[in-house]
Amino acid sequence: MTDQLIAGSAVRVLDVGDLPACLRLGEDREWSPEERKWRLLFEVGDVYGIDDPDGGLAATVVATRFGRKVTAIGMMLVAKRHERRGLGGGLLRYALDRSGTSSAWLTATAYGRPMYERLGFRPVGECATYTGQAVGLRRGSSRPAAPSDLPAILALDAEVFGAPRVELLTRLRSFWEQFRVVDGPGGLAGFGGAWRNVSDTVLGPVIAQDADIALELLSDLASDVEGPVRVDIDTGRPELVAWAMEHGLTHGFSTTIMEYGEELPGDRARLFTPVMVALG
Ligand SMILES: CC(C)(COP(=O)(O)OP(=O)(O)OC[C@H]1O[C@@H](n2cnc3c(N)ncnc32)[C@H](O)[C@@H]1OP(=O)(O)O)[C@@H](O)C(=O)NCCC(=O)NCCS
Repeated sequence: MTDQLIAGSAVRVLDVGDLPACLRLGEDREWSPEERKWRLLFEVGDVYGIDDPDGGLAATVVATRFGRKVTAIGMMLVAKRHERRGLGGGLLRYALDRSGTSSAWLTATAYGRPMYERLGFRPVGECATYTGQAVGLRRGSSRPAAPSDLPAILALDAEVFGAPRVELLTRLRSFWEQFRVVDGPGGLAGFGGAWRNVSDTVLGPVIAQDADIALELLSDLASDVEGPVRVDIDTGRPELVAWAMEHGLTHGFSTTIMEYGEELPGDRARLFTPVMVALG
């Protein structure tokens, strides 16, 4: 179950039975109790933790591997009372050593960035989160995805993401509220999903052959959401920032997009929004 001590504490592979303790650790850092997100991460990722000798968890990290090429890092948390003892850095190093992929990806809060840089992550961009009730939307040309679209969705995703996300994307029915596709002359021109989080619906992933198609997907997904939406935008894409502002969304917070190891594979010019910032 464990084979390494970090700052005197043993690392443990967590399972869904640890979910309440993960939520409590998140609360300690003023993170909202994102139960659905954690449940998905337990299904598709490797969740590592360090127990707090006084009960509950002292630290967590989730490493989700996509084939042999990319690991997405998320939910890096250390309880306030255990910070600055090396638990965060040690746990992340442990997860990276076990992932065995050529690259890793994450988005870093200001708290985490110095630690990630020390471990060898490089900043490659900025991710800005926009939220709110979307207004003034015009419908685009997308349609709801049918089960028969799945092979084409997986093929386009593998080409753009550069690593297989089959396990994640085949959870379309149970996890996503909506999943839409845009048809092009030679096959799929794009696809997009939306999933419900605690207080909003996240518009992601959006993968498209160009920005116009991506914006159509965002508008169509947002049109069918009741209540506020959230979009995580790489600020190197001004057209997406403009879309968010034009439709009444406001900027909440920003994180630094970071990569580790080899340059990320695929064609990221066609990757418009991540599934979530813990997954890429
Ligand atoms: C970011 C976070 C995970 C770091 O966890 P941590 O256990 O404090 O991390 P570490 O102890 O490994 O490293 C933090 C710093 O403490 C220093 N440190 C480590 N051991 C130490 C020790 N024994 N004594 C003093 N300082 C120490 C490290 O050098 C590091 O300094 P740096 O940030 O200047 O590089 C934690 O602050 C946290 O949970 N923050 C809130 C949630 C969050 O923002 N998570 C990141 C999401 S991307």
